[in-house]
Amino acid sequence: MAPSASRLVILGTGALGRYYAYRLRDYNPIVIGTTPPPYAVYPPDRPEPDIIYPAFLPWEAPLANPASSILLAVKWAAMPRILTWISQNAPTARVFSLMNGMGQEDIFRRFPGITFLAGVTTDALTRVDPPDGPAGVFLRATGHTWMSMPDSGQPRDFPPWPDWSWESPDAIQERRWQKLLQNSVINPLSALTGVKNGELPTHPIWRLAPPLLDEARTVWARATGQDRPLKPLVKTVQELAEATRANRSSMLQDVLATRPTEIQAINGFLLRQGRRYGLSLPTHEAVVTLIERMAPTPDALWRLLAPETAPPEDGPR
Ligand SMILES: NC(=O)c1ccc[n+]([C@@H]2O[C@H](COP(=O)([O-])OP(=O)(O)OC[C@H]3O[C@@H](n4cnc5c(N)ncnc54)[C@H](OP(=O)(O)O)[C@@H]3O)[C@@H](O)[C@H]2O)c1
Repeated sequence: MAPSASRLVILGTGALGRYYAYRLRDYNPIVIGTTPPPYAVYPPDRPEPDIIYPAFLPWEAPLANPASSILLAVKWAAMPRILTWISQNAPTARVFSLMNGMGQEDIFRRFPGITFLAGVTTDALTRVDPPDGPAGVFLRATGHTWMSMPDSGQPRDFPPWPDWSWESPDAIQERRWQKLLQNSVINPLSALTGVKNGELPTHPIWRLAPPLLDEARTVWARATGQDRPLKPLVKTVQELAEATRANRSSMLQDVLATRPTEIQAINGFLLRQGRRYGLSLPTHEAVVTLIERMAPTPDALWRLLAPETAPPEDGPR
């Protein structure tokens, strides 16, 4: 049975939000954000898009009934707005997040009524916002999605996530760390050089990949108590760059579109964790400094991530 229209909410009208509005269209989700429908969804195997018209509300409009399930599909710069929206519209919802980066669970802990569940996806989606046509999303590659299982077990009734794999929080945490390490190399190095993923391993900047991974794995080891050898990590990231050779990383897309990046939730997260453990991460510090010069993190997000530290005028945050 399809749930009532008011209960399933997708926060974000970017690539991920548009794609899930399409995938869940039979369940009448409400999409919240800044870009109203229609949305044109371009599957990889067809030249003509599917056009969808999901229910839509701008951020400022209140929901008629509180949301019970939320798919979080925004970039990190939206997080201050998300918290305001959730406190006003969905104080007791289940929040399923496919956002990259780490540290969201710490932020959502301030909402005792929220059940926060993080996942990982290898779908590759690119937004397109033409001036003279509907906002769209290209499905570049169909991947897989893993989601943390709620304490009550896999939700069978609602929401209807048909092909997600449900795993224990520990298994998901392992996947999120792996993805964090991959993102901490491919995202900033592609954003700094402007090259597609496939060109990175032969680019001189790739010399930074081993030190980035070496520093990141020391933080991972302190956080989880498990040491991972460096060589397989370097090999995996190189294989990933080659397997996604035609992609522009999301950080490169953000820099090209002069939008804030997610650097503070990726390399910045590692830096902050490293400081907690007394670890030095000079290579991450260097790439964070460089990316911040290209696309500064908004102060509102910075205050949320590291409230104890005022954003410095210059240098790594
Ligand atoms: N795309 C993928 O293939 C993919 C794969 C795995 C994980 N992810 C992760 O999923 C999350 C969403 O990615 P995406 O590709 O959907 O990004 P996107 O296309 O750039 O869309 C981001 C959404 O966040 C909103 N947003 C950004 N800054 C905001 C702000 N300051 N205030 C309010 N709203 C703001 C955007 O609003 P506007 O429409 O106004 O810009 C848009 O709705 C990210 O964490 C990303 O790393 C994406």
